[in-house]
Amino acid sequence: MYELLYTSVSPKGLPESELASILELARIKNKKLGITGMLVYHDREIMQILEGEEGPVKELFNVISRDERHTSVKIFYQGNIEQRAFADWSMAFKLLDDKSIAEITEGYEDYSLGMSPISMIKDNPNHGRKAFTTILKSL
Ligand SMILES: Cc1cc2nc3c(=O)[nH]c(=O)nc-3n(C[C@H](O)[C@H](O)[C@H](O)COP(=O)(O)O)c2cc1C
Repeated sequence: MYELLYTSVSPKGLPESELASILELARIKNKKLGITGMLVYHDREIMQILEGEEGPVKELFNVISRDERHTSVKIFYQGNIEQRAFADWSMAFKLLDDKSIAEITEGYEDYSLGMSPISMIKDNPNHGRKAFTTILKSL
């Protein structure tokens, strides 16, 4: 089992209707590919985790990274995992609100310096997966 976490930016922002249509299609396709994961959105920034067999995860990531609805697509972690963290979700979704930001930035000193929550997670790869599972618990 393999996981890949990336971040990206949607320069104009993704309206909720656009996010909903991305997710609707993604959930159907991911089920077919045996992919699970989570998509987090906050103020034009995106973070997504894809889990599954290595081949399908990398292939799907290649498709996603070419999608013109976002840019600056950057992998910040990929590697083997023992088991899925999002087994029940073909693609969970979280629009970050103040409460979840407070939870995932707990213990981060940089947040008070005005750093965006997603860049903080990105700059701290070891914390990335943990932040995701924290968000999952608050879904
Ligand atoms: C931020 C973002 C996340 C996406 N996540 C997924 C996903 O998890 N699964 C998926 O199939 N498509 C996802 N897509 C859509 C893909 O980029 C692509 O449009 C879709 O898979 C259809 O590709 P196809 O026409 O080659 O089948 C995402 C797009 C964006 C912008």
